[in-house]
Order: sequence, then structure tokens, then C-alpha cells
Amino acid sequence: MNANGLSRQLVEAEDTVRALQQELAETNRGLVALTMELESRVDERTAELRTTQEELQRTNSELLHMTLELEDRVAQRTAELHEANERLQHELEERQRAEEALRRKDEELRTISQQLWQAAKLATVGELVASIAHELNNPLATVSLRVESLLTQVPEHDPKRRALEIIEQEVERMGRLVANLLQFSRRSQPQISTVDVCEEIRHTLDLISNHLRNRRIRVVREFAPDVPMMHADRELLRQLFLNLLANASDAMPQGGTLAINAAAGVLEGGAPAVVMELIDTGVGIAPDALPKVLEPFFTTKPEGQGTGLGLPICRRIVQEHHGTFTIVSDVGQGTTVRIVLPLTDRTNIAHLQGIEP
Ligand SMILES: Nc1ncnc2c1ncn2[C@@H]1O[C@H](COP(=O)(O)OP(=O)(O)O)[C@@H](O)[C@H]1O
Ligand SMILES: [Mg+2]
Repeated sequence: MNANGLSRQLVEAEDTVRALQQELAETNRGLVALTMELESRVDERTAELRTTQEELQRTNSELLHMTLELEDRVAQRTAELHEANERLQHELEERQRAEEALRRKDEELRTISQQLWQAAKLATVGELVASIAHELNNPLATVSLRVESLLTQVPEHDPKRRALEIIEQEVERMGRLVANLLQFSRRSQPQISTVDVCEEIRHTLDLISNHLRNRRIRVVREFAPDVPMMHADRELLRQLFLNLLANASDAMPQGGTLAINAAAGVLEGGAPAVVMELIDTGVGIAPDALPKVLEPFFTTKPEGQGTGLGLPICRRIVQEHHGTFTIVSDVGQGTTVRIVLPLTDRTNIAHLQGIEP
């Protein structure tokens, strides 16, 4: 190759290099532009992302706030429900109590009506007994008279005499029974007179002294020398003492001691009175039975033995005399009945017939 050819080739190569350089520069420019554009896009996306993140954060804190609020509300509602529940529980308990009280009242009512029914029956029986006893009085008096007259006609050693004497005794016994029945069923105005209570206690004790002896009951009387006379219904006082003696005797089936005291004293409020005490060493009264012993028909005795009327009658008698009646008892130790009767009061003066207080 010659020198011309070479220089031409050089020129051509230089042209090519220039063209390549130009192309490179252009490409470079393009790349720079592209890079710039990319950077601006990345910036844009980053800004967008930041906004989204901020939004998310806001939403998140809102959610948190809402959750807290909800929790608060739930706690409040729970507390309210709890309170309502407690109120309901309380109301339920109160209702149960009220129902229980109602049930008790109902039961009480039932026993009262039963007692009333029994009392009504008893009153009828009492009336019947009184009228029969009354009817028996006259024939008994006739029989008694006839027997008496027959006895005067029969000679001393006649074998028929014994039979007639037995008839006379039995008629007398029937007469006493009828008199007692009439007295017991009597429900009239008290017959007030001047009474020596010690004498009445002695009299009542005499009536049942045999019975007390058989039961090995020792009676210790302690009557103060200055027990005053008082205004009272003698028969009612006897009935009072008889009932109390019967109860004391029933309480000492294995025997024991019955102390009977009487002394001058005063009633609450200062009115002069007679104070009596009957103290037995019997079985005593259980604490849960004690408040009931004055109720009509309350008895702890077997059927047929107790009527549950003894103590209510005692209390009625004491009330009719405007006195006080108290029972103190210790199971296994014994029972003390204390009676305080005023010597006189306006009410029984009203019944007095010609007796000055
Ligand atoms: N002195 C006493 N000792 C123990 N218990 C007594 C005594 N007096 C009364 N009570 C009790 O009181 C109850 C009621 O007495 P009361 O009214 O006289 O009726 P009743 O003798 O018919 O049972 C008796 O059943 C008995 O349980
Ligand atoms: Mg009795």
C-alpha cells in the first residue's frame, strides 16, 4: 500500500473515531437525562410513600384511640352490668325474704285458725258438759235423799245396808264431780271476797296431797307471818294453784321438791301486793318452748294427758286480778312460777259486795 492509501485510511479512521465519540457523547447525555428522570421519579415515589406512611400512622393512632375508647366503654358497661346484677341479686334476696315471711305468716294464720276451731269446739263441749252436769244435779239429789231415807229404815245388821252405804258414797262422789265440772265450765263474773291466799294454797294442797305423796314429791311451804288478806275470787285462785301444782307434779315424775313461798310485796308501780312463788326441781322447760307455754293448746305431754290449757287459764286468772305472772326455767334444774297479785284495785273493788278495801 502506498502513502496515499494510508493517509486516507487514517482520515477514515479519524472520522470513525469522531463519529463514535459523538455517538458516545450523545449516549452519555441520554444517560444523564435518564438518570435525572429516574431520580426525580424516585423522589416522587418517596414523597408519595411518606404521605402514605404518615396517613397510615394517623389511621393507626386513630384506631388506637378508638380501641382505648371502646375498652373504656366496655369497662363502664361491665361495671354497670355488674351493678345491675348485684341489684337484681339483692332484689331477689329481698323477695325470697318477703316470701319466707309470707309463708311464716300463712303458717301462723293456719295454726291460729286451727286453735280457734279447737277453742270453739272446746267451748261447745264445755257448754255441753255444763248443761249435762246441771241436769244431773237434780236426779242425784233425789237419789241421795232416797238412799238416806232407806238407810234409816234398814236395821243396823241387815246385809242390804252395806250396798246402800256404797250407793250413798258413790252418789256423793258423783255430786262432787258434777260440782267440779260446773265450777270449771263457769265463765261468769269473778266473785270477789276477802281471801287469805295462804289458806287457799293449803286447801288446794290438801286436795292433792295423796297424789303428791305417791309421786314422792316433798312440799316445803314458807309463808311469811305478815301475808296480808286480799280481795280476789277464791275459786279462781284455787283453780290457779291446782293447775300450777299439777304442772309441777308432772314435771317431777321421779319425785323432787316443791317449795311454795308467799310474802307481802309490791306490784310494779308500787301497789301493795302478795308475792307467791312455786319452785320445783323438775325437768324444766326448753328455751324454745318457754315463749310458747302460755299459748292455748301448747303442750309437751302425751296425747290424752295434756290439754295445753293450764297455763293460759292461770295467766287469764292472774290478769283478771290485775297481777303479773312470770315463769323462769332451767332445763334439768327446775321451774319457778312467780305470781304477784295486788291486794285490791279499782276493778275488783267494783266487784266487791259490801266489802270495804
Ligand atoms: N312446772 C313445769 N315444769 C316444766 N314444764 C312445765 C311446767 N309447767 C308447764 N310446763 C310446760 O308447759 C306446757 C304447757 O302447760 P299447760 O298449759 O299447763 O298445759 P298441759 O299441762 O296440759 O301440757 C306443758 O306441757 C309443759 O311442757
Ligand atoms: Mg297443765
